[in-house]
Amino acid sequence: MTHAQPPLTGKTALVTGASRGVGRAIAVALSARGARCTLVARDADALATTAERCGGADVLPLDLSDPDAVARDVPDAFDLFVHAASPMFEYKKLHTVTRDDLDALLHVNVHAAAAICRGVLPHMMLRRWGRVVLIGSLGGRLGARGGSAYDLSKAALESLGRSIAIEYARYHVTANTLVLGAIDGERLAQREAAYPGARAKLLERAPGRRLPTDEQVADVASWLCSDASAPVNGASIDVSCGAHLGNVW
Ligand SMILES: NC(=O)c1ccc[n+]([C@@H]2O[C@H](COP(=O)([O-])OP(=O)(O)OC[C@H]3O[C@@H](n4cnc5c(N)ncnc54)[C@H](OP(=O)(O)O)[C@@H]3O)[C@@H](O)[C@H]2O)c1
Repeated sequence: MTHAQPPLTGKTALVTGASRGVGRAIAVALSARGARCTLVARDADALATTAERCGGADVLPLDLSDPDAVARDVPDAFDLFVHAASPMFEYKKLHTVTRDDLDALLHVNVHAAAAICRGVLPHMMLRRWGRVVLIGSLGGRLGARGGSAYDLSKAALESLGRSIAIEYARYHVTANTLVLGAIDGERLAQREAAYPGARAKLLERAPGRRLPTDEQVADVASWLCSDASAPVNGASIDVSCGAHLGNVW
């Protein structure tokens, strides 16, 4: 699939969450197809590693939970915007969720995404072409015990994608959300270390007894960033190896 994908030569891409996991894999995939990526996350060293794997990229170490920094430091001239950043959070029941817990997720997953979209959309309108790819979660659709704050932020992100799809389609700008279940990546490895057996339990409930890898998600994301995806707009696309067909959470 990787080599069959249409090239993105000449496109500029902003990828958040690019210091590891899905965001890193997406940055590498977009770079391999010829896009020039700008990488955002807080960890400057990890971003430098991603840039190396991209064969060169611009790095922008930034805390996306700081709205002033987002407004001040994120440039606007991008053809592609992929929002993969999302803070780690603690699963807890709603009555114990604090305002700070909620704000931490909403600032990165919703406010930063919307602010960056507001910045890049005029450029995309001028170019009469653009792609926005948001990384959502099955939790945003199905809910999960203890995940209320995260889940509502991911549901809002999907809504943002639909609004952009409706308002900017006439400029050949599309926006879509990839709805992920558990990914066979770094986060799951950490969960397995903390809760041995967690991976096997998830696999057991996945129809094909497998889960997507970071690279497989990146292949779908980079297809969505190409010309070939033009008819797909305002969609929420499950990338979960079918885990969305049962409540895996
Ligand atoms: N992995 C899964 O099983 C799974 C399942 C469903 C949905 N998802 C979604 O898929 C996306 C990627 O997941 P992942 O597993 O790759 O996550 P991850 O490994 O935890 O990476 C999250 C990324 O977000 C960045 N980030 C977090 N807080 C930030 C902040 N305040 N400012 C700037 N950057 C920030 C992190 O970088 P720094 O720490 O360097 O800032 C990191 O690059 C996320 O949106 C996640 O919600 C993942």
